[in-house]
Amino acid sequence: MEVFLTGATGLVGGEVLVNLSKRTEISKIYCLIRAVSVGSAQARLSNIFSLHNDEFDQQKVIPVLGDLFDDELSAQLIANEQLAGVTNIIHSAANTSFAKVKDDLVEKANIGGLTKILLWAKQLLKLDTFMYVGTATICGRDVKHRLVTEAETPNLEANHLVKYTYTKMQGELLLKKHLPENKILVVRPSIIMGDSRGVEPRSPVILWALATMNKLRLVPAEQYASLDMVPVDFVADVMTKLLFAKRNYNVYHISAGNDACTSPLQIARVFDNYFDDMLPHRFIGKHMLNPLKLWAKGKLPVGHELYEHFEYLEHLQYEFEDLSNLRILFAGLDPYLEFAELGQRFDNSRIIEDLGIEPSKPGHVYIHHCLRYIEKINLLEGAIDP
Ligand SMILES: NC(=O)c1ccc[n+]([C@@H]2O[C@H](COP(=O)([O-])OP(=O)(O)OC[C@H]3O[C@@H](n4cnc5c(N)ncnc54)[C@H](OP(=O)(O)O)[C@@H]3O)[C@@H](O)[C@H]2O)c1
Repeated sequence: MEVFLTGATGLVGGEVLVNLSKRTEISKIYCLIRAVSVGSAQARLSNIFSLHNDEFDQQKVIPVLGDLFDDELSAQLIANEQLAGVTNIIHSAANTSFAKVKDDLVEKANIGGLTKILLWAKQLLKLDTFMYVGTATICGRDVKHRLVTEAETPNLEANHLVKYTYTKMQGELLLKKHLPENKILVVRPSIIMGDSRGVEPRSPVILWALATMNKLRLVPAEQYASLDMVPVDFVADVMTKLLFAKRNYNVYHISAGNDACTSPLQIARVFDNYFDDMLPHRFIGKHMLNPLKLWAKGKLPVGHELYEHFEYLEHLQYEFEDLSNLRILFAGLDPYLEFAELGQRFDNSRIIEDLGIEPSKPGHVYIHHCLRYIEKINLLEGAIDP
């Protein structure tokens, strides 16, 4: 089996790469890497393995220089003779930004980039499976407080909170345009948050939102909404198992499902126990985000109900001497809060049925493993470049 993997330097792709490198059925793993030279691509790969002390087999894991933005990418891949025997493609690379200013880049990477990979993939003689890493959140903003099944989406009528989920939905349609159904495997993780093994997560993406809530302590969100989150090691294990499994479907949620969902309050309690010298998290609802922004600008009218939380406002004043930084954090947090309010849960019965695995642990059960890494996250950087 020869695998071609994109996104290996990311949160998901890195874990998948390490998993695949341990599988003896796989002889080669070609990784599409953005780098200026083979040497620097190899260095990037080496970092993936050294993070958790895994063995980097340079005979098996081979960098292929390339960028999804490059107009020549399909031609380069087609001309690369060492890739002619690729049997499985895992496309995990994406631009995952929720920021409106990144919309063009998101579209270019997630639709344009995927198209380039597909144009190469469709002429591979030995291609068995194209695994596309999508997202469960393609169901859109109108689906609220209920369990979502794989069969409901992609739904062209769905309204999207951010361009990112729209492009991930379009990606699924592109697959069908270029490849026969029997070669397509779509995995749709829910929210990937941290790692349940007590090791350093490969990227602070999404965990940033919890780190920010932890700093704020006064949270403009609904405390009881269902949060369907899964740790990255669970996602990578499921992806690896699906590649080898006898599959009854070609679309799978990788999610917590009804039984293993959590809530902002349950997560916050874990944080409160760990950082016990801070004020406990207080949830004041999403409608308080704008008043908080106004307060940070010094423009909140006297007598507003937000002032009832005066000890929290003092805490914010103390933590953020420069309140313009607080406004930057609120702007970064906004789309995460919108997603959290939807209370979407994603049915996980397909992976349990086909793989015979235990469901993921609920977020509030495993998140303590991530707490010591939370303080390392640069909040402003995460807010500016989400
Ligand atoms: N994180 C989540 O909660 C979540 C949830 C559901 C689904 N997903 C899906 O899971 C997949 C992986 O996400 P992730 O969290 O691992 O993202 P990530 O940590 O941001 O990693 C993104 C990866 O894509 C690569 N990439 C981005 N733009 C590229 C380009 N122009 N050319 C080549 N490579 C490029 C990055 O390479 P560089 O290192 O060179 O930037 C990196 O390896 C995505 O398809 C995402 O939609 C993620």
